[in-house]
Amino acid sequence: MLEIAVLISGRGSNLQALIDACADEEFPARIVRVISNKADAYGLERAKKAGIPTTVISHQDYDNKEAFEDAIDQELNACNVKMICLAGFMRILDARFVNRWKDRIINIHPSLLPSFKGLHTHERALESGVRFTGCTVHIVRPEMDDGPIILQAAVAVNPDETADELAGRILEYEHIIYPEALRLMASGKARVAGDKVIIESATYPDGGWINPLPGGDIDL
Ligand code: GAR
Repeated sequence: MLEIAVLISGRGSNLQALIDACADEEFPARIVRVISNKADAYGLERAKKAGIPTTVISHQDYDNKEAFEDAIDQELNACNVKMICLAGFMRILDARFVNRWKDRIINIHPSLLPSFKGLHTHERALESGVRFTGCTVHIVRPEMDDGPIILQAAVAVNPDETADELAGRILEYEHIIYPEALRLMASGKARVAGDKVIIESATYPDGGWINPLPGGDIDL
């Protein structure tokens, strides 16, 4: 059983997806702590409801980023955390912290990386005219929204929809691929090999993760 911490800044719907997955005793990970850099993050309520201890570590309480990240690091070590899941954690972690936790931090981003790193991904996807966008779960490296990809889900863009509508459709996939990516990493079925993540070939009969929702957007 892999002890994980989830770092959040807000709503926490991906945290909820991870909480729900961990409720299954067969699932190979347990959330031992939820850390938020914002005291009013709704995700903290979700954690409390699930009986998971929470800690607020506000970046505003520290003189600099190093001190803020050292406080997070100390808390993680005190809780015996083995892997960190970023779930809407809106602070960029420094190389020093990321390297300390090398290959043990995973993140979800609402685009098909390496496209649309950063903020306003859905608006930018609509503006750029791409036909597909989606979401990515990846291992965190020091560059923002960069690192070996564990899973992705693709969603066809409807040019007439709003950014909020597109975001909502992608979020459904986020809630599927994040727990699945964590399951793969925690069970050892996926492992980092240089700049890629290798998934055991027997994991998916078709050799790869194509589209997680039955009847989803892509019909191959
Ligand atoms: C999610 O859409 C997640 O992919 C995104 O923030 C949202 C958090 O929602 N993360 C990023 O943009 C990170 N670069 P949630 O708090 O409901 O999980």
